[in-house]
Amino acid sequence: MPSHETVHVDLPGRAYNIMIGPGLIEGAGETIGTLLAQPRVAILTDEHVARHHLEPFRAALEKAGITVSALALPAGEATKGWPEFSRAVEWLLAEKIERNDMVVALGGGVIGDLAGFAAAVLRRGVRFVQVPTTLLAQVDSSVGGKTGINAAAGKNLVGAFHQPSLVLADTGCLDTLAERDLKAGYGEVLKYGLLGDAAFFGWLESHGAAVLSGDPEARLKAIRRSCEMKAEIVVRDETEQGDRALLNLGHTFCHALEAATGYGERLLHGEGVAIGCALAFDLSARLGLCAQEEPSRVRAHIADLGLKSRLGDIEGPLPDAETLLDLMAQDKKVIGGRLHFIMARGIGEAFVTSDVPRDAVLALLADALAAR
Ligand code: GLY
Repeated sequence: MPSHETVHVDLPGRAYNIMIGPGLIEGAGETIGTLLAQPRVAILTDEHVARHHLEPFRAALEKAGITVSALALPAGEATKGWPEFSRAVEWLLAEKIERNDMVVALGGGVIGDLAGFAAAVLRRGVRFVQVPTTLLAQVDSSVGGKTGINAAAGKNLVGAFHQPSLVLADTGCLDTLAERDLKAGYGEVLKYGLLGDAAFFGWLESHGAAVLSGDPEARLKAIRRSCEMKAEIVVRDETEQGDRALLNLGHTFCHALEAATGYGERLLHGEGVAIGCALAFDLSARLGLCAQEEPSRVRAHIADLGLKSRLGDIEGPLPDAETLLDLMAQDKKVIGGRLHFIMARGIGEAFVTSDVPRDAVLALLADALAAR
């Protein structure tokens, strides 16, 4: 197997490895095979990912004597709801997937979240492997055990914590990603530098372009460092009673912007995260929590790489500041009616607080909208 790196998620009783590198799909028969009680797996994927990766993945498993069945759901966020979830669970039951069997999620965040949740509830819990094929899934959604689907009332409102048994992040899959999806995934990468590792952010400022253009070493380092940071936080606070909320830096703004733009092509999740991180630093500076030059440095890095960095980069109309604030208040991070924000004392120094005056958020949004 080509060289790869391993990050260990050291959760007591639920520990697992994240393997990162090129060619991991080719060697999947061996790595996944060692985890199986009986030599068979059920793969959940989407039609778009299936076109690129299902046959090589199936061949690698079958070469190792593993029987494979697969269901490809439609690609896109609309799949992450009750109808396709119920279809996936019924299919797994029809395939007679038993308690000791393994479900495999082959795809991006939508498939990883849906398949993980299906594994969590099937026969009260079967094991699953994440094979993330997007940058966003490799650095964030495939790690840490958050699984779920969307409900009519909002995104990710139904789900379970269910840790995978292995994450196999084949960096070769990123070569087939559309440039926009790759850049959106980078929004989650820079989040890690901003929330807890200023040196990593500094490294991204000089190597971010190489990460996006496909330099294998730069990609490996960016994904490994992101996974290390996520693993460390998840081990400290698996079910988000405290520190795990740091991973939501930029997300309260992002969720409001996604809701305002219809969770679609106008704004991809990772694009919203990048804009949200810049807004979180703007707000931190306005509240006197961090130096005035920090937001400019954050926004400059985002814009230098051609990512969306401000509200003006979102096409089409946006609602007014009051409406955006209301959408922020529908976020899961509302506790006891108070919005919890991730603010920063500087790059790499994020913290969670509920002590953010409503008027300061409103003024920031109004100014950001006026500057469009
Ligand atoms: N994506 C945020 C988390 O996993 O907690």
